[in-house]
Amino acid sequence: MSEIANISFKALAEKYGTPLVVYDEEKLRERLQAFTENFKSDSVKTDVIYASKAFSCKAMIQLIQEYGCCLDVVSGGELYTAYKAGFDCSKIFFHGNNKTPAEIRMALELGVGTIVIDNVMEAEELLRQIEGTDYQIRVFLRVNPGIEAHTHQYIVTAHVDSKFGISMLDEKEIAYVTDLFEGCDNTSFAGIHAHIGSQIFDGQAYVELVRKMFAFAAKMKKEYGVNIDSVNLGGGFAAYYTNADHPIPVDEVCAAILRTAEEENVKINHQIKRVCIEPGRSIVAEAGYNLYRVGYIKKTPNRLYAFVDGGMSDNIRPALYQAEYDAFIAGREDEEKHADYTIAGKCCESGDILIQSIALPEVHTGDILVMRTTGAYGYSMASHYNKLPLPAVVFVKDGEDRVVIERESYDHLISLEK
Ligand code: LLP
Repeated sequence: MSEIANISFKALAEKYGTPLVVYDEEKLRERLQAFTENFKSDSVKTDVIYASKAFSCKAMIQLIQEYGCCLDVVSGGELYTAYKAGFDCSKIFFHGNNKTPAEIRMALELGVGTIVIDNVMEAEELLRQIEGTDYQIRVFLRVNPGIEAHTHQYIVTAHVDSKFGISMLDEKEIAYVTDLFEGCDNTSFAGIHAHIGSQIFDGQAYVELVRKMFAFAAKMKKEYGVNIDSVNLGGGFAAYYTNADHPIPVDEVCAAILRTAEEENVKINHQIKRVCIEPGRSIVAEAGYNLYRVGYIKKTPNRLYAFVDGGMSDNIRPALYQAEYDAFIAGREDEEKHADYTIAGKCCESGDILIQSIALPEVHTGDILVMRTTGAYGYSMASHYNKLPLPAVVFVKDGEDRVVIERESYDHLISLEK
């Protein structure tokens, strides 16, 4: 694969410099289409909510709008980006375990449609701000269903002591919070939200989640009189990084969720009217490529290093989660493999290894190394470590390329400094 959308990777590296993040816009569109087409039901309303933490910029958010999806934001910054992209704020779901009073105010002022409340104190803060005003907001409550999906421990979010949500075991606390919102003229309580982890390969985890959420909704109605008519199942759908990964196809996982939802809904008298999912990674990961220029090659007793001009500053996932990636040398994909290389970044940290070991043809200084599947949580978790400027981000489609985020300059890097 020496080209993307009929443009060679080498030409992109020449034109824009490296490190460079490139997205195949057609792939982004395919994924959005796959989710919106497959997550539809005759018996319940459905929403596909893009989790913008995976990759957020104005161009991306405009694509989300084009496909009629809703948007998950978790901070004032993500909300501001959506607002500046012209996104319809009534379709925003505002998440987070510690939304500041200023962020809550901002959400109300911008007309955010839905807020996902995480805890009792946050519920009280929202009420303090909204009561007696003209603002209206729909409320979901994040619950912790106690389901652990098999994934890296830093990415698991629903174990018993998770910082997110109120445990389903704390029914009285949940009833207290929902009563607060039902008793307020400015809020309408919609339902419950859960997110069980990320990079989940096991469709059964979602089936269990649907069962648990629907049964819980029915129980809360019966025993506490709480009106839950919407269920938001979060995201977490896996992407393909290396040939060890076998993600569930989008149509299958959507079908499994909706089939289970329909079955469970029959048991509870069709109480649930709306089901939502929040994919992030599975929409953007495979569309993204990071391009680096190879610098020096170094042999140590046990390793052969190829150094590249980026690293943990533009993709912290290998260092943070031991995430694995596939890569190739642009224009030399068909050449015979020469040796196993360790691809190391340029940051001053021994852990700055992008790929521990990968078979490549003989790597030369100046080669363009292309890492695949970097579209999720790469740029969005980038840092200025070692004062490396952030890379540019380019969208390519039908032989055309366009910058969606400029490369940071040194002047921009120090622009806030006095
Ligand atoms: N909804 C909520 C409430 C979430 O917390 C998340 C991700 C998502 C949706 C989207 O999950 P996805 O479909 O992207 O898996 N930085 C980590 C991933 C952290 C995910 C946090 N929450 C990584 O690079 O793997």
